[in-house]
Amino acid sequence: MKIYETDRLYLRTLNIEDIDSVMSFWGDEEVMKYCGGAGNREQEMKSLKFYINLQKEKGHSPYAIILKENNEVIGVCGFNPPDNNEDIELVYHFAKGYWGKGYATEAAIACVNYARKYLNRDTIVAFIDPSNKSSENILIKLGFIFKGVKWHGGSKNEDLYFELTL
Ligand SMILES: CC(C)(COP(=O)(O)OP(=O)(O)OC[C@H]1O[C@@H](n2cnc3c(N)ncnc32)[C@H](O)[C@@H]1OP(=O)(O)O)[C@@H](O)C(=O)NCCC(=O)NCCS
Repeated sequence: MKIYETDRLYLRTLNIEDIDSVMSFWGDEEVMKYCGGAGNREQEMKSLKFYINLQKEKGHSPYAIILKENNEVIGVCGFNPPDNNEDIELVYHFAKGYWGKGYATEAAIACVNYARKYLNRDTIVAFIDPSNKSSENILIKLGFIFKGVKWHGGSKNEDLYFELTL
């Protein structure tokens, strides 16, 4: 189901048939270096099922990001439940071939706009590894504010913690 559109991208909910596409980033050690590491196909099938279920139950999840130009799934961007399961956490993972073109920022802005319109929240949170400068760059461009250092169960790391007030 398509949920949002920008100049260059479509955002839609994930489905099981996305497994080959998501393996191009979730299965890539370099992409997932700061996000708990790459997974094999079986593990990422479980992640896909988890997010499909999350969307059904909570009405938000990481979304498939489709490049209009070639109709490919180039990454995911959207909302993950962090450990406390109350907040919504912005996440983004893109295939390496699509870095440095502004797609992640465009998708992240779309997700924030989507949350403002449909998710009825006051805040979006984000966690990043202190070395993950390109990810921090996106948060700063979106107006997220650094709040301190916090343990993140997904990355199993003391991460930098940011919040955006909607
Ligand atoms: C984090 C990640 C998504 C960032 O990717 P990215 O390519 O740096 O981000 P974008 O796609 O927004 O591209 C930004 C760059 O594209 C460039 N660019 C080129 N064409 C552009 C255009 N038409 N519009 C905007 N920017 C453009 C800009 O120079 C910009 O860099 P700048 O902000 O330093 O000026 C990517 O590195 C990734 O997938 N990393 C692994 C996963 C991860 O760590 N996720 C974060 C934790 S959840």
